[in-house]
Amino acid sequence: MIEAKGIVKSYGTSDNRQTVLKGIGLSINDGDNVVILGASGSGKSTLLNVLSGLERVDEGKIFYDEREITRLTDRELTAFRREYVGFVFQQYCLLPDMTVDKNVRMGADLADNKDYKDIIECLGLGEKLNKYPRQLSGGEQQRVAVARALAKLPKVLFMDEPTGALDEATGRQLLDYVLKLRKERGFTLVTVTHNENIAQTADRVIKLNSGLIVEDKQNPTIKTAYEIGW
Ligand SMILES: Nc1ncnc2c1ncn2[C@@H]1O[C@H](COP(=O)(O)OP(=O)(O)O)[C@@H](O)[C@H]1O
Ligand SMILES: [Mg+2]
Repeated sequence: MIEAKGIVKSYGTSDNRQTVLKGIGLSINDGDNVVILGASGSGKSTLLNVLSGLERVDEGKIFYDEREITRLTDRELTAFRREYVGFVFQQYCLLPDMTVDKNVRMGADLADNKDYKDIIECLGLGEKLNKYPRQLSGGEQQRVAVARALAKLPKVLFMDEPTGALDEATGRQLLDYVLKLRKERGFTLVTVTHNENIAQTADRVIKLNSGLIVEDKQNPTIKTAYEIGW
């Protein structure tokens, strides 16, 4: 279980200081499929970054079961992330000097995962194994980022606007694949999006507005990637 208590996070100094997360509390059960929904600028990426231990909070605590990650040293936090967390960045963050194969294998090696090529194949990137990120479209890079995160067999997968650069067909395919894999492997999935349609595929939707949770509820009906509007 992930538990966040009283999370506050600001950026900038004195005059320019902006409080982006204004006191967030939430808990996410193991194996849950949660969407964090909110308008652009509401603090979604920041929340995902602090929940996953990528960024530090100013105030508050975050626990993974009994382990308080907000107390870990940088080195411990890196080790923790390596072991627990898969992350798909809004801006992909692929390694530019590595091919698709190497980018994904980096993730796979962390978990000693020999089957990582299946993931590349299932995401429709089989033909792109030896291409470099700059030779790919935005949508292809986004899929590589998802493949890399999945390849490390994370206990929790965080995705930041994972279908932002994808056309409808590719977006549905990617979402469907991630949702199926989650059912199969049982990892926890936390997805950030501004897209109400995608929120319909989650077990639970947490709405964020100006750095505060304004709604948090179970979805009455959960739709597949092919049943939602696009
Ligand atoms: N590293 C940063 N430095 C300064 N301001 C930031 C930084 N990251 C985010 N912000 C600001 O915090 C607010 C929320 O950003 P973000 O979490 O990216 O929102 P969202 O993902 O919902 O669009 C925005 O106003 C953004 O400009
Ligand atoms: Mg964002």
